[in-house]
Amino acid sequence: MYRYDTYDQTLVDERVAQFRDQMDRYLGGRLPEEEFRPLRLQNGLYIQKHAPMLRIAIPYGMLSSRQLRALGEITRRYDRGYGHFTTRQNLQLNWPKLEDIPDILGELAQVQMHAIQTSGNCIRNTTSDQFAGIAQDEVEDPRPWCELIRQWSTLHPEFAYLPRKFKIAVSGAAEDRAAIQVHDIGLRLWHNENGELRFRVLAGGGLGRTPMIGDVVREDLPWQHLLTYLEACVRVYNQFGRRDNKFKARIKILVKALGIEEYRRRVDAEWAHLKDGSQTLNQAAVDTARAHFIEPERREIAEQAIADFERLRGENRAFSRFVTNNVSGHKVPGYKAVTLSLKRREHAPGDITADQMDTVAELADRYSFGELRVTHEQNLVLSDVAVDEIEALWQELEALGMANPTVGTLNDIICCPGGDYCSLANAVSIPIAQALQERFEDLDFLYDLGPLDLNISGCMNACGHHHVGHIGILGVDKKGEEYYQISLGGNATDDASLGKILGPSFYREDVPDVVDKVLKVYVEQRHEDERFLDTYRRIGLKPFKERVYAK
Ligand code: HEM
Ligand code: SF4
Repeated sequence: MYRYDTYDQTLVDERVAQFRDQMDRYLGGRLPEEEFRPLRLQNGLYIQKHAPMLRIAIPYGMLSSRQLRALGEITRRYDRGYGHFTTRQNLQLNWPKLEDIPDILGELAQVQMHAIQTSGNCIRNTTSDQFAGIAQDEVEDPRPWCELIRQWSTLHPEFAYLPRKFKIAVSGAAEDRAAIQVHDIGLRLWHNENGELRFRVLAGGGLGRTPMIGDVVREDLPWQHLLTYLEACVRVYNQFGRRDNKFKARIKILVKALGIEEYRRRVDAEWAHLKDGSQTLNQAAVDTARAHFIEPERREIAEQAIADFERLRGENRAFSRFVTNNVSGHKVPGYKAVTLSLKRREHAPGDITADQMDTVAELADRYSFGELRVTHEQNLVLSDVAVDEIEALWQELEALGMANPTVGTLNDIICCPGGDYCSLANAVSIPIAQALQERFEDLDFLYDLGPLDLNISGCMNACGHHHVGHIGILGVDKKGEEYYQISLGGNATDDASLGKILGPSFYREDVPDVVDKVLKVYVEQRHEDERFLDTYRRIGLKPFKERVYAK
């Protein structure tokens, strides 16, 4: 994984000192609130419903055991002993004290972490595939490219005050697991027929108030030009994006207004000045970035061990369920990626306690070369587990409450903090997730339903990705009362689509029944082995609507 060099470390340390001074001046009454606000946002510090909220970046979702331990210690000492993983591979602390933030940032810096650019109108944390570097369907490892983007975008002098926030996601595999089509810029690595590496560049995707799927700006960008081309894309946005209306300020609105051809033309015109300039990447630069993502020293796994693993699966139903749902293929035979579920009814989806962080860090050391991944579905991954150790790991995860064999099922709900924490919320979302998890906990039923994404947001900002849930739930406010709007047919992967609203919204108590009716229509109408999404696409909204609103 990437380790800071002295430049990185100095930069982060200096930012901590700078922010400490800003905080001192603010608390001492020498820096007015309105001047402090942009400064704190540049360091990921929000003021939320109950307390400040600090958003910590986890670049492209990679975390070391040492960092996770430090996060555990920070949440224990400065917060209430837990943290919340978000859909953008960040960790949020919900209860820090304002005056402690500089100390927290100082401790983060010691383990090469920070909160820079996790908020504000700048380029945010670049996100990627949680199986980067190990996936069987990988064309090219996206991590070195994410790292190059991280270095380019961090404190980029030109892009500190964009019209609005800006999010980039990168995928290097056949299957998109990074939701690149709903990001401001989505990048897809591929090889042309000569085996040369290319980027497909999408722009103008995004969720929130006006959700949109991104358009292809350039199909075949040679890798050397990644940064200059990105710079051109963001420059055009910076220059022409709307600053008069916050709700129309994202790049998706600009791309829509101009049309993709005109946006492309402007990007190309800008790129003409940048192309082949000093930011052009050469092999040496890429090799340096790649050198940070070396293969761990995996052992040779005997054929027998693989056979034993399969035998164990056959003998133990509970273990088999876990393997089927939470264990993924690996490019190296004998190794697997294991997803640790952060979905338990007692906790908000994505929440993790300090004690769990400690134990998971230890598991990462013992089973996975001290490395972890954070997924945009709000789970954790141990990316390199030898098959002869998976059963032992599973036992330990069971004890920790992280072995829920439900990854990818209806129970693996994505959910924003909603009205319990967020001051922008129209309605609560965590209790909805909990009610649904309680209602649909029968494993046989969940497995029978097959892959199903259920995503919940507490308001139209869509932090819980509700637009791209196969079933999406959105909290709405009607004359001061909480209601929930249900949409169907959203999808965040390759054949991305935005959900369509079923009809009038529902009371909180009715949501599980409504979802139940939706599922019943699917079960009755599906063809054999047809995914929920495909049944929906075949039969449309009408049959669901008829059942749900039947008198
Ligand atoms: C302090 C709490 C939070 C605040 C104030 C907040 C605010 C917002 C706002 C205002 C938007 C809409 C932006 C726009 O369309 O211009 C947004 C979008 C989004 N936020 Fe949050 N958010 C918070 C927490 C979270 C959490 C906990 C998650 C993940 C669980 C998250 C992930 C996202 C995502 C994925 C989007 C939509 C994607 C897009 O940018 O198009 N946010 N957030
Ligand atoms: S979707 Fe709305 S309620 Fe949920 S975290 Fe985002 S801003 Fe808050």
